[in-house]
Amino acid sequence: MAVQTPRALVSCASLLWLARAAGGIPFPAQRDLLMRQEVSRQMGGGVTLTAAEQKLDADLRRLKEREMSAARFPPALHFFKARPLIQQSPVFKLLQKMPKGAALHVHTSSLVGVEWLVKNVTYRPHCHICFTWDNSVRFLFSERRPFPRWDCFYWQLLGTLRARIGDTSGFDNSLMQHLTLFTEDPDGEYPSQEVVWEKFEKVFIAAAGLITHAPVLRDYFYRGLEELLQDNVMYLELRSGLSKTYELDGTVHDTAWTLRTFQEVTRKFVSDHPDFLGARVIFSVHRALSVSEVKAAVKEAIQLQTDFPDVVAGFDMVGREDGGRSLWFFRDALSLPAELGVTLPYFFHAGETGDDDGTDVDQNVLDALLFNTTRIGHGYALAHHPLAKELSRKRNVAVELCPISNQVLRLVSDLRNHPAAVLMSEGHPMVISSDDPSLFGTTGLSYDFYEAFVGIGGLKANLGTLKELALNSIRFSSLPPHLKDKGLVMWQKKWDAFIFHHS
Ligand SMILES: *[C@@H]1O[C@H](CO)[C@@H](O)[C@H](O)[C@H]1NC(C)=O
Ligand SMILES: *[C@@H]1O[C@H](CO)[C@@H](O)[C@H](O)[C@H]1NC(C)=O
Ligand SMILES: [Zn+2]
Repeated sequence: MAVQTPRALVSCASLLWLARAAGGIPFPAQRDLLMRQEVSRQMGGGVTLTAAEQKLDADLRRLKEREMSAARFPPALHFFKARPLIQQSPVFKLLQKMPKGAALHVHTSSLVGVEWLVKNVTYRPHCHICFTWDNSVRFLFSERRPFPRWDCFYWQLLGTLRARIGDTSGFDNSLMQHLTLFTEDPDGEYPSQEVVWEKFEKVFIAAAGLITHAPVLRDYFYRGLEELLQDNVMYLELRSGLSKTYELDGTVHDTAWTLRTFQEVTRKFVSDHPDFLGARVIFSVHRALSVSEVKAAVKEAIQLQTDFPDVVAGFDMVGREDGGRSLWFFRDALSLPAELGVTLPYFFHAGETGDDDGTDVDQNVLDALLFNTTRIGHGYALAHHPLAKELSRKRNVAVELCPISNQVLRLVSDLRNHPAAVLMSEGHPMVISSDDPSLFGTTGLSYDFYEAFVGIGGLKANLGTLKELALNSIRFSSLPPHLKDKGLVMWQKKWDAFIFHHS
């Protein structure tokens, strides 16, 4: 708060001065000063732009103004309807080229676009498919026809089925529908949070059989990093349950195998693409587990962190917060590291909730901070928690803002009304991420940057805002200081090239 005192004094003095001038029109110079002081508090308000940057900033502002006056303003529409408009947007095209730094909130199961899963993975030999009674789908790679299971009793070779159906593109499209939430009619298909979350969880189960096949997983990670780099993202922190992977003969690998594979693929990718910084994992388990299961997971995370210190960033809990178990419910498990005297950084999802003020789940943001969370996933509810907000700011605990996710999962419909608008105008520590790109039909970070920059930030958000958001993604990453420095140098080089290209 010490930081704010001088500002507060200045403002009060200015207001008194205004009051004295109140007999007539307030002094324009004083008005300018106040406005500049206010702008300086916003995200990026402290960034000084070079002449070339100022020119790009002016261009961006003009483009943004044009988009805001169009009949259909993308951030006001559901993303599934806005996507074709955004793809045409000159602001979006610039954002695609802009070096955006790091993606700090992405989940494994939705890292890679469904197009690749269907057009590449389901075309591989030995892929079996089965339709469940509730019209969901399961995949399994197996040398022999898989045995019937509780949820699936009729397995067939996917290639045979595809050949029999004949309409390959129609069939492939229907498979894609099982692996994404994307649809032309979001309001009709997902009338409520309950319905959209139900489909959300179904998609994860459907994709699992494809992704957790060991040879696929390697290609999947590699492809995921490729999609990020193509969108000018240079580093990833992936939330992953590190599911057990399986071979064609049914052999199952453990968690450490999955982590080692991730490490190997990342190293290969970085050696193939030296302008990519790397990737780490935040070990994540579902909040549907019991306290003792989460205890076991926390212990496992501590072990994995010891065995793979370069790769494991920390621990998180995933799954819908509303109707789910609160962080406080798991306090005996989450306090384990402190009791054992070890450090396990937390990266909690918290406050991914709307109007449930006062419930246990609504306390998740404060509890996340009590457990010393390093960042807050979403923090949509933070605006309603003044103390949590203050603590998060004071301790530099960044909010991971995922605008499209919040809209698709029905926390907000018109993104101009997203509560993060206030956080942005206050310069609250924040990064932008995509959460579940393949489920929402996005790739990389550009779509979410667009919504944050054009919709949530409004006309006030400028090139300084974008620059600070990109820099934040490296500053607030889990990387050790020397790698942050390396990342910042790499980013600056890309940024200079980006600015040069547009001047
Ligand atoms: C599938 O992806 C792999 C790895 O990215 C690639 O080597 C292979 O050629 C692709 N196959 C098809 C059919 O696209
Ligand atoms: C959080 O950090 C504080 C200060 O470092 C420490 O005293 C406390 O034990 C930590 N709490 C947990 C749950 O790790
Ligand atoms: Zn998430």
